[in-house]
Parts: sequence; structure tokens; C-alpha cells
Amino acid sequence: MRLAQLNDKIIGRKLEMPVFSSEGTTILSKDSFLTERIITRLKQLGIRTVYIVDESYEDVVIQELLDTTFRLKTIKTLRQIFDQVKKKKNLNPYEIKRMVSDISDNMSISENSIITFDNIGSNDTDICNHSLNIMMLSILVGIARGYNSLQLADLGVGALLHDVGKLITDEKSHPEAGFQFLRMYREFSATSYICAYTHHENVDGTGYPRKIKGDQIYDYAKIVSLCNEYDILQSSNSFLPHEVLERISADVGKKFSEEHYKDFIKVIYCYPNGLPIKLSNGTEGVVVMQNKNFPQRPVVKIKNAGTTNYVNLMESLNLFIEAVAF
Ligand SMILES: [Fe+2]
Ligand SMILES: [Fe+2]
Repeated sequence: MRLAQLNDKIIGRKLEMPVFSSEGTTILSKDSFLTERIITRLKQLGIRTVYIVDESYEDVVIQELLDTTFRLKTIKTLRQIFDQVKKKKNLNPYEIKRMVSDISDNMSISENSIITFDNIGSNDTDICNHSLNIMMLSILVGIARGYNSLQLADLGVGALLHDVGKLITDEKSHPEAGFQFLRMYREFSATSYICAYTHHENVDGTGYPRKIKGDQIYDYAKIVSLCNEYDILQSSNSFLPHEVLERISADVGKKFSEEHYKDFIKVIYCYPNGLPIKLSNGTEGVVVMQNKNFPQRPVVKIKNAGTTNYVNLMESLNLFIEAVAF
């Protein structure tokens, strides 16, 4: 399989993975053939790339960080929880804690795991998908930082509920509102609800609501802030993963903490498996596998006039990925 951009070039190709709406209904099943009409429809849903069947690249490793069926089930429950916050201004803290531990237990963590942004239609205002993504990404960063299971659980709760204030009030006041709401629950740790309060603060003091900076911002909030930006840019469908990372890295030291960015970059994929790329020596290939902690240097499969070879960018240090070659 390989990743392909949605355009005329893939008319007649077969889908490798099913496509779902952000509400969880199946829009297209695996093995569906792509027609012009289907491609237009997928674009309208905010989908930009799809995995298609390609026999030349059948060894591309794709591991979903969270199995799609489990993900969709979780989103459904989360939607009910958030609806209740909206309507009745309450939630069950034990249900949240259980959900965080269930998600963590079900995450398939490996360097080849990806969050499948690509097969679920996005809806900019969908706080459920957003919150779940931030939670999973934050947990990955927490693991890279060597957190223990209690720390991971608190970080997970804080990340899952970081935007809960948006269900109560407007965009501008959501950090404060989320903080006031969550701290009513003694079951939550202060380190969790501090994420809601400070995830829009910047390390240089230009954020909101309190304009605190540097060490005044708690670790977990710095992690949530990075993951928040990543998910927003990634699901805007305007950028590919490596472009998202370029934008985030430009804000390190201003918006984001350098120390936390170093751990963040270890767990995020830059060039997803299946992505067609061009190397600095002009050859073209497809990313087949990741190297742990080095997302910029994956293993690339090159097919040239009947010959196949693999370039491990961790070994061929003189080469780098020059461009994405859709
Ligand atoms: Fe927010
Ligand atoms: Fe957010």
C-alpha cells in the first residue's frame, strides 16, 4: 500500500483502509474503487490523502495507534460525556479516569504507529476527535519523558479535558472556565486541571489568559500545548506531517518549550509510512518503516527498472528526504 493524494491520478485505484465520517459511520469500505465522484466527495469531507493498494509497496508497515473500531466507540462515549457537560454542567470523574486508562491500555505503541487522521472525515469543530488525539499524543510524549503510570494517568485526564471549557463558554474564556469546572472534582489531580488553565500560555509570556512564562507553566500543559498545535495543523488538511513539524519548530522558544519539543519530536511521525518521497540524490521511493526516535530518517524502499533496494536513512547519513513526491 501507499499513501496517495486525492486527485485524478488515483481514479480506478482500490482503497486499502475504510473511510469513516467524524461521527463514525462508514463512508467507504476497504477495497472500494475510487471514482471521480467518490474523490470529490472525500475532498468535501476534508480528507486529503488515502491509503491505496499498491503491490509494489506491499511491505509498508501501518500500525494504527488506536484501532479504528475502538476509536469510534470511544468517540461515541466521549460525545455523550461532552453533551452532558454542555447541558447539565457535570460529568462523572470516574468515567473519565476509566476512559483514559482504557485508551492507554489499547494504544499500540511502536515507532510505526500512526494516528489515522487520514481515514476519518474531519470536522473543524469536532472537539471529541480533537480531545482524543491530544490525549494519545500527550501520553506518547509522557512515555518519552519517562513518566510513571500515575503521572501518565493525570496527564491523560488533563489532555482529554483540556478544552472542556469550550463546552461551557466562548473560545477566549475557555481556559479559565475549564479550570473552574474541573477543580470542583476532588477526584482529579491539580496537575490535570492545570492543563485546561494553561494550555494556551506561551513560554515567552505572550499567551493567555495569565501571560505566565517559562517554568511558571507546568510540564503537562507544555506537552498539551505542543500536541494541541500539532492536531490543529494536521487536521486543518492544509499541511502534510513534515510541514506541520516545520511550523511548530519555528515556534520553539517562543510558544513552545524546547525541552518538551525534544521529546515531542521523538514520538511524532514526520514522513508517514507509505508516503512517496524524493531523496536528495534524486531517486524516488516510498517510506516503509520508521526508526525509533528519528522521525526525519525513516527506511525508504526504492524501485528502479525492475530492481528494488532499501535505503535506511539512519545508515546513509549523506542522504535526506528532499521532497514529498505524490
Ligand atoms: Fe484550547
Ligand atoms: Fe485544543
